Amino acid sequence: MIVAGVMSGTSADGINVALVRFAGESGRARRPSPHGRSPHANWHSGFTLLGHSEYQFPAAVRRTILEMMNAELARVADLARLNFLLGELYAEAVEKTARKYRVKVDLVGCHGQTLYHQGTPERFLGRKLAVTWQTGEGAVIAARLGVPVVSDFRPADMAAGGTGAPLVPFLDYFAYRDGRIARIAQNIGGIANLTAIPAGASPAQVTAFDTGPGNMVMDAAMEELFHKPFDRDGVVAGSGRVLDGVVAQLLRAKFFREKPPRTAGREEFGREYVSRLLQICHGASKADVVATATALTARSITDAVQRFVLPRFGLRGGATRRVKSGCQMIVSGGGTKNATLMAMLRNEIAPLGIELHFSDEFGLPAEAKEAVAFAVMAHETWHRRPSNVPSATGAKRAAILGKISHA
Ligand SMILES: Nc1ncnc2c1ncn2[C@@H]1O[C@H](COP(=O)(O)OP(=O)(O)O)[C@@H](O)[C@H]1O
Ligand SMILES: [Mg+2]
Repeated sequence: MIVAGVMSGTSADGINVALVRFAGESGRARRPSPHGRSPHANWHSGFTLLGHSEYQFPAAVRRTILEMMNAELARVADLARLNFLLGELYAEAVEKTARKYRVKVDLVGCHGQTLYHQGTPERFLGRKLAVTWQTGEGAVIAARLGVPVVSDFRPADMAAGGTGAPLVPFLDYFAYRDGRIARIAQNIGGIANLTAIPAGASPAQVTAFDTGPGNMVMDAAMEELFHKPFDRDGVVAGSGRVLDGVVAQLLRAKFFREKPPRTAGREEFGREYVSRLLQICHGASKADVVATATALTARSITDAVQRFVLPRFGLRGGATRRVKSGCQMIVSGGGTKNATLMAMLRNEIAPLGIELHFSDEFGLPAEAKEAVAFAVMAHETWHRRPSNVPSATGAKRAAILGKISHA
């Protein structure tokens, strides 16, 4: 079975498509189920990434998506239109990718575009609710492509008491678990999130949470100061000087002290956050502001690892050096293309005894990994198997994720 995974993240930069082939379902699973079911329960007996592609959103579409994430600007009619428009764009992206690799797709797993995510319950009209909203109409994709579509993965986890995020740990566990090496899967998209997998971990020992901003704050600073969507290859940040005092001040914010599980989005690190950052950096050069935003991402990741991950691994900073098997951070997402960010991150984690690796080394190209994850989860859903990781989302139970639209 060939499944197309489709991801468009909070950066709203575009659509990533991954084509994944799953071997036939054998009676015996080679790997344990993440939900600790019987060892004979089916899990796929392996998958192969056949190809992947990335499509930028046209500038007007990106602008509209960003507007629709802003309650003040979003109108209900436009939200409805955007849902159907994205369905068309996702279908086109899958079609182009399938043609490029001469593959016939059997199933689509589409994450959709998050417009709003509030993972922990808040009071609304007398009830405490955790809510989320992904848009991009599955029925449109199914109709255009003539195959079933699994979409809207997050609500089932939230209905089961979870924060609805992160979901990618399901893939991280199977891709990275190692008997001897403790691993941190660090994705740097708009938001940065990690999955911590202790050496020899069982699924229940996997934790995951958002570390804070990924590219979102840097991107917004670039837009504001240079009228560019992002800092290509990290050249601007590389020419600036980090304002250490500002980074330290920003890291004192409540979000960074919150214990996992925790999730973040534009609600935390969007427009308002960036205008505050620009105020704090008042008087600094433009490149210094971008360098400072870049350092914020690198240091908030390191800070989170030191506070919340190393203790779980039974390691303290520095101690990892003495552990022969060691600890690795495996990075993915658009942030890996930012050389300045990668250099900062490598320097920050090295004293903790953590080596930096790229997901590409594990057969998961940095820009395709999340799309692969949604292909894997869609495949599970199609076979009526759960794919949330309750220890990562805080859900009370395993849940079959997503909604199916038939062609
Ligand atoms: N060549 C590059 N140099 C620097 N940053 C890049 C480059 N390519 C992509 N990025 C960054 O990656 C972001 C997109 O990352 P992505 O993983 O798609 O995030 P999301 O999942 O939020 O959509 C862009 O907004 C940009 O900040
Ligand atoms: Mg993206």
